[in-house]
Amino acid sequence: MASLPSDGDVAAAANGTIVCDVSPPAAKRPRAAITDAEIQAEFAHHDRSVARLNNGAFGCVPSSVLAARARWQRLFLSQPDAFYHHHLQPGLARSRAAVASAIGADSSSVSLVDNVTTAAAIVMQHVAWSFAEGDFSRGDAVLMFLYTYTSIKSSIHAYAARAGAAVVEVHLPFPLTSPSAIVAEFRAALAVARDGGRRRVRLAVIDHITSMPTVLIPVKDLVAICRDNGVDKVFVDAAHAIGQVDIDVGDIGADFYASNLHKWFFCPSAVAFLHTRTSSSAAAGDDPDDIASKLHHPVVSSQYGNGLPMESAWIGVRDYSAQLVVPDAVEFVARFDGGVEGIRRLNHDKVVEMGAMLAAAWGTFLGTPPEMCGSMVMVGLPGALGIEGEDDAMRLRTKLRRRFKVEVPLYYNPESAAAPPELSKDGNGDLVTGWVRISHQVYNKREDYEVLRDAVAKLVADGFCCAELRNSSDEEETLSRGVDIQPALPM
Ligand SMILES: Cc1ncc(COP(=O)(O)O)c(C=O)c1O
Repeated sequence: MASLPSDGDVAAAANGTIVCDVSPPAAKRPRAAITDAEIQAEFAHHDRSVARLNNGAFGCVPSSVLAARARWQRLFLSQPDAFYHHHLQPGLARSRAAVASAIGADSSSVSLVDNVTTAAAIVMQHVAWSFAEGDFSRGDAVLMFLYTYTSIKSSIHAYAARAGAAVVEVHLPFPLTSPSAIVAEFRAALAVARDGGRRRVRLAVIDHITSMPTVLIPVKDLVAICRDNGVDKVFVDAAHAIGQVDIDVGDIGADFYASNLHKWFFCPSAVAFLHTRTSSSAAAGDDPDDIASKLHHPVVSSQYGNGLPMESAWIGVRDYSAQLVVPDAVEFVARFDGGVEGIRRLNHDKVVEMGAMLAAAWGTFLGTPPEMCGSMVMVGLPGALGIEGEDDAMRLRTKLRRRFKVEVPLYYNPESAAAPPELSKDGNGDLVTGWVRISHQVYNKREDYEVLRDAVAKLVADGFCCAELRNSSDEEETLSRGVDIQPALPM
């Protein structure tokens, strides 16, 4: 895990064109391991009336990191010119060094961007230019998952497909019992994309942890398959990965690897990293062209051409404070027994335990075995709820939020009937068409999951069925249809 970089590292890593002679504001360094009371105090700003089981969507930020952010914001407001000339670039360099240390990379290959959506735009823009400038030919393929996140799919279509790429989807079955089904589907889709060797596959987009349904993907194996089959470049959408699973970008071997720090790494929105494999970090003879130098931030600024880390470090006047507090998040994580690894273990064990508790209460099952999830897991909902489409799932989610004060995303599985009987029928013999994705983060308690357990049990006991919500004149349900049904919400 990352140790805090020293001021010397900061000065060394900062862009030499900007003077950096003043250290950023110091955060207090706690001595003893964090206690339960301190964890609760760190998240005292959470609405306690809500059972918050959806850390995966927007993450969480402890008070100590929020305080550090406020210090950066005040520093800017107190003397903006001095902030720009002396503090901003050293601070961003310190954050890049903290990320690099956490993922086994060199700082020079790490760029800080707002989010994975932005990282994808950087990669897809490069693909589009490669078509426009004749490096790629019309009809060359881009591979992605059926479950690739909506905004990333849109980016692939908006840039790559529009520029001439043929987009091929990897079908993923769900629920799953082993990673081998993923590998088999990936190989099959790759064969389609390659068209018997007649077509070049220019890019494969692989999730590290899919959003919905959530599944931990054998990403290293899939990258190796890409290498063996002549895929030019691999982009790993690891939006959920840092803080959930161990990351060694060298070992994974992708060309581009991006993860949000505002989901599972305690940073405020919006901050993510994009790691780019440089020719020096590529295996000898494996990647002679230096892709890193060809990538550009889609927001062009005076830093254009100075390399992606610098282009991303100045995209015009804005609030950079979320990107400046990465070392404070590292410091928060270090207060836990075992650091980030300890947090990951705790979250994984707890989410599996809570998932099993819910499944037992509802007569259902988990969507994956424990080894195929990190800190989020899918749990089948009783078939009696009658979830027959995505709209039903969204309306029921809204009902759970409004009436039962529980926040949890729902998934409608259109292929429920194709699953083996032990993973398709609940204890009453009803088809399980709907799933919840539960998260566990350090602030969660068993009681949060019991709220969900009891809410679903009450709905079933009351004979509730989603059909009731479709034409409801109930003011609350009408509101939910009008206001909350937004398909592109973060997951
Ligand atoms: C798998 C995956 N990729 C990409 C994203 C996009 O993240 P952001 O909205 O922070 O750019 C998400 C968001 O939830 C996601 O789950």
